[in-house]
Amino acid sequence: MAEVVIVDTPEAAGTLVARHIAARVRDEPAFTLGVATGSTPLPVYAALARERAAGLDLSGVTAFALDEYVGLPEDHPESYHSVIRREVTEPLGLDPARVHVPDGDAATIATAGERYEAALDAHGGVDLQLLGIGTDGHVGFNEPGSSLASLTRIKTLTATTRADNARFFDSPDEVPTHCITQGIGTILRAGHLVLLAFGSGKADAIATAVEGPITASVPGSCIQLHRHVTVVVDEAAAAGFERAEYYRWVYEHKPAWQGL
Ligand code: F6R
Repeated sequence: MAEVVIVDTPEAAGTLVARHIAARVRDEPAFTLGVATGSTPLPVYAALARERAAGLDLSGVTAFALDEYVGLPEDHPESYHSVIRREVTEPLGLDPARVHVPDGDAATIATAGERYEAALDAHGGVDLQLLGIGTDGHVGFNEPGSSLASLTRIKTLTATTRADNARFFDSPDEVPTHCITQGIGTILRAGHLVLLAFGSGKADAIATAVEGPITASVPGSCIQLHRHVTVVVDEAAAAGFERAEYYRWVYEHKPAWQGL
């Protein structure tokens, strides 16, 4: 079972997860962090920046992003190259040479998935993967119906995802139609998955992913196939869980030595 941790606020979630990552980095400075974009992981990055200000050195950390839009120039403010640079690489003091984002160049997209998988393999994979979830249940940009064995490849965004992400663009039409994303099979190779969800808009998606059947129709349900998953939600996102009281009980009685 995924461990489900229910906290009061996204900020509390960010602090909890960042403390765990900081401890892992102190133990292993060449730690590899899988990073997500979107709004959800921002409290984690903010809390990690505070850890950095308090002395944590993240310069040996390697990062692999989950996804990128196809056809947006890398220097477009909403390309995930730009977002990762702005929200992760610069505030955390990562070495830009160790930060990897899939190549969304439309001209070479046919080989981009294979190249990203090769880079992940050559590096030795991801130690901890941060994940958000889409209101349609996607993780990465693996939209409903994505193979549970999929690898990094081009995908077509659903109308729901394009509408959800329109807030980052001047008009909904500007949201790209295609993306390149780590596959579900790729994500499942990471050592530890940390799936975050905040707000009532995510309550159905996260409850279905954690407690519903494992199905390609709900890509987030793939977490049930992984042996080390931590789901961190705020109270609003926890509203749909049938077993919320049990999750709270488990966390309150968790042996301290287990960590996250
Ligand atoms: C982003 C990603 C997506 C988002 C998801 C939730 O790299 O892979 O799966 O995590 O769309 O987005 P937000 O966090 O903006 O609600």
